[in-house]
Amino acid sequence: MDQQVTVVDHPLVQHKLTLMREKDTSTASFRQLLREISLLLAYEVTRGLDLTTKRIETPLCEMDAPILEGKKLALISILRAGNGLLDGILELIPAARVGFVGLYRDPETLQPVQYYCKVPAELEDRMVIVVDPMLATGNSSAAAVQLMKDKGAKNIRFLCLLAAPEGIARMRAAHPDVPIVTASIDSHLNDHGYIVPGLGDAGDRMFGTK
Ligand code: URA
Repeated sequence: MDQQVTVVDHPLVQHKLTLMREKDTSTASFRQLLREISLLLAYEVTRGLDLTTKRIETPLCEMDAPILEGKKLALISILRAGNGLLDGILELIPAARVGFVGLYRDPETLQPVQYYCKVPAELEDRMVIVVDPMLATGNSSAAAVQLMKDKGAKNIRFLCLLAAPEGIARMRAAHPDVPIVTASIDSHLNDHGYIVPGLGDAGDRMFGTK
């Protein structure tokens, strides 16, 4: 099934993203904004969660009230920048299970190689949300999603803050069944693989490294 790309155009998301893009935004502000924006993006990416009903009693009467169905969802962070999205999402979904995937780029083949992978059990029964703030070439994102499929995941979404058209094309070619949620689709990738206009290196900006 060919799934869509959703750009979350909510004014709060767009406002916070602008502040994050500005080069003089401090590490502390960048981190705080990322936390806030990821909470808002999480609201959108979890729209399709299954509901069932539970019989409850309000102070006035009984009712069949909606409640989430099935196993707790799994968040999969692509190290290291993906971790910046976790805090905000976990504020909204504190019971979510969390996994981590570490990939590096082989200098000769330029292909992503896995150096770490620890994910929750029973991925086949969970909504799995793979998170990475920057969907640039899409190579590591596509590899991480493939890894989750190899581990049994069937219901996968990809959440990022910024996407380049090149990354979206790569993901949609490799994983047309995986919906993508982002706050913006930017213009292009530059020769160094940075998203333009972008926000620079997301990991460096959130962790204060250079
Ligand atoms: N990763 C980043 O952190 N920034 C980009 O622009 C592209 C990839």
